[in-house]
Amino acid sequence: MTTLSVSQRCLSDQPLPWLGGLTAAEFLRDYWQKKPLLVRGAFPGLADLLAPEELLELAETDDVESRLIIENSDPAWEVREGPFHATTWRKLPDTGWTALVQAVDHYLPPLADLLDHFAFVPEWRIDDVMVSYAVPGGSVGAHFDQYDVFLIQGPGQRRWQLGEHCDANTPRLAHDQLRLLADMPVHFDEVLNPGDLLYVPPGLGHHGVAENTCLTYSVGFRAPALAQMMDCVVDRLLETQGSEALLTDAGRALPDHPSSLANADIQRMQQAVLSSLNTPELFEHAIAPALSEAKYADYTPEGDPCSVDDLTAAISDGIELLRDPASRWLWLPTQQVLWRNGEPVEIPADVLSFIPQLLDGRRLSSDTLKKLPESVLSWLANEISAGFWLPVDPLTSLLSDASGEA
Ligand code: SIN
Ligand code: CO
Repeated sequence: MTTLSVSQRCLSDQPLPWLGGLTAAEFLRDYWQKKPLLVRGAFPGLADLLAPEELLELAETDDVESRLIIENSDPAWEVREGPFHATTWRKLPDTGWTALVQAVDHYLPPLADLLDHFAFVPEWRIDDVMVSYAVPGGSVGAHFDQYDVFLIQGPGQRRWQLGEHCDANTPRLAHDQLRLLADMPVHFDEVLNPGDLLYVPPGLGHHGVAENTCLTYSVGFRAPALAQMMDCVVDRLLETQGSEALLTDAGRALPDHPSSLANADIQRMQQAVLSSLNTPELFEHAIAPALSEAKYADYTPEGDPCSVDDLTAAISDGIELLRDPASRWLWLPTQQVLWRNGEPVEIPADVLSFIPQLLDGRRLSSDTLKKLPESVLSWLANEISAGFWLPVDPLTSLLSDASGEA
């Protein structure tokens, strides 16, 4: 029997333990963007992945996006941006603050692997893994987010309360940086223990308060704004057609008033715009740069020179390859083009047919690597040199705890 990879399990009809035994299709049908889901013991392996102090060290690092939220300060709910000096933490009170670090999956390979457990949603919908460190009573306040989030408890405990669906009209406290709710009627109240997962759909009010010093992982999603998609299509139309294609109006009727804009003309213009939007090939090409843009647009990977012989030797030593988690990858099957970080990638003809298999999950296992032909290994060696694939230690499952028990 062949063992399926984590991302293949997401696409199969198997019940997924990290979704509480639902299949991915059942989760998408009944919960995704609709209602919350609590799963006890979803990721026992996350409890010991990162020590709270290690997260604070990341918040002290340049180029890492971090924030500190202090509740009982003056003004209340003070937000400070990182990077932070190492002495920051000991000057803070013992209770009531949270440090949040974005994109921890870019720095910690097992968190990139965590994202493969959510492969029932395409990668272009996934934003990052944010990790928060909170002291007792620490919280970011009752709020709602525009995006879906899977909250997974690391070490320590956090009490989560869920409220009602919120929107732009829901009363909020005056705050520039946080969407704090003026009031949140509580419909769910549970303490999450290490490894527990809570899915919160967009717009649902939520409030998580640390019971003790704890880490919480947030697998966050993203979606393009409708206006941004239009903007992409317009840019592409301007690039490809400029002002060549004009509105046509053969067969027009006599105007009621020559100085008026008639309804028939408005409809004719709307039809012309809609039919140019309705060209799948144009749309796909137009949207690919935005959907494949790296989380940090100015990001450039850095690699170390690697020859095909170096790679072959490393594979015999048992290394695996992780796709650069800070780069965003998007395969267009109809056009057979790979987009990465906003650009199309040139791929040798004899490697192209392997791309869907290589991008199946975020990691190429030792077994997969051993079966690849020389042409693909040679392409991968160049990719490693450019920093797009990282040699990493073999995967340890996040579904079992540190003692190895499932
Ligand atoms: C947190 O980890 O404290 C906040 C996560 C969230 O509410 O989205
Ligand atoms: Co939130």
